[in-house]
Amino acid sequence: MSSKSGNSVIPSGVNQCKIVQLPRILEARGNLTFVEGGHHVPFDIKRIYYLYDIPGGTARGSHGHKKLEQLVIAMSGSFNITLDDGYEKKSFSLNRSYYGLYIPPMLWRDLDDFSSGAVCMVLASEKYDENDYYRDYDSFLSDARGRKNW
Ligand code: TYD
Repeated sequence: MSSKSGNSVIPSGVNQCKIVQLPRILEARGNLTFVEGGHHVPFDIKRIYYLYDIPGGTARGSHGHKKLEQLVIAMSGSFNITLDDGYEKKSFSLNRSYYGLYIPPMLWRDLDDFSSGAVCMVLASEKYDENDYYRDYDSFLSDARGRKNW
């Protein structure tokens, strides 16, 4: 997990990403899963967004975040996420609505291989802020490598 002090962020390594198994209430009338901020994810949830109607062969992501923490869940279907800390890459395949992938700040992410009907839901620690994005890989790399601390 990254730590924050003032405006500076200490970058995270790909090994700090983790699959979180969410609670499941299994009943004959259907199953239920829930996520509590500060409990199943180490942040308060300030925003939820989701990707859907994703055409076959499409890639999403291709950016990094300076401070944002996220939990990504395949609500339906499946897709892959590759995370990159500037030194190492790690890929995850998500295909169950009761597993989430926790992504700390300062990781570049690429999402691809979306199945037909896939829905990618993201729980986020902050509201949308374009200034929190790295859209340029070289800028991300320069900051991520310049502040290695794990
Ligand atoms: P982006 O984060 O680049 O999407 P992805 O990582 O899935 O490829 O966002 C796509 C567009 O949507 C971009 O113009 C910003 C806008 N957007 C919002 O307005 N609010 C949000 O919460 C998010 C996630 C994106």
